[in-house]
Amino acid sequence: MAVLEIEIMGARILREKASPVDTVTDEIRLLIRDMFETMYDAEGIGLAAPQVGVSQRILVVDVADEGEERHVHALVNPVIVESSRETGTETEGCLSIPGLEEAVTRPLEIAVEALSPGGEPVRIEANGLLARALQHEVDHLDGVLFIDRLSPLKRGILLRKWRKNRDRS
Ligand code: NI
Repeated sequence: MAVLEIEIMGARILREKASPVDTVTDEIRLLIRDMFETMYDAEGIGLAAPQVGVSQRILVVDVADEGEERHVHALVNPVIVESSRETGTETEGCLSIPGLEEAVTRPLEIAVEALSPGGEPVRIEANGLLARALQHEVDHLDGVLFIDRLSPLKRGILLRKWRKNRDRS
């Protein structure tokens, strides 16, 4: 297993639409293991393949919700098939935008269909932090970052702050 390098905002791959996985091979399963290791190393709760330089539709999450129940998932070709009309607003961050956090509004409940690492179809009904993390990671597969979900004004302020911090370090 290996800790992979995480792509930082500005990298073109983070803005590309990732390709579907044809077949879940051993190579894909190895990538998934490395993605988990990379996510844990960075102390994140979710990671999408484009964030480690692979433009394929794969994500991993490890989320503990308020009930402390842990949800660990690796999903291949995930599709959000249902979204609640009810939304919630919570603070998000992203391993590809270090040091930046902001409140993002998203549907509270979703259903996702995908393939498991074993290549089996799975369906996940999610709410709370899991629903939020899955939406954030599926966005990555479409080249969307959480800052894109903010108002242009708020996004502009955050980007200026982010660039300033980056130039300083
Ligand atoms: Ni992210």
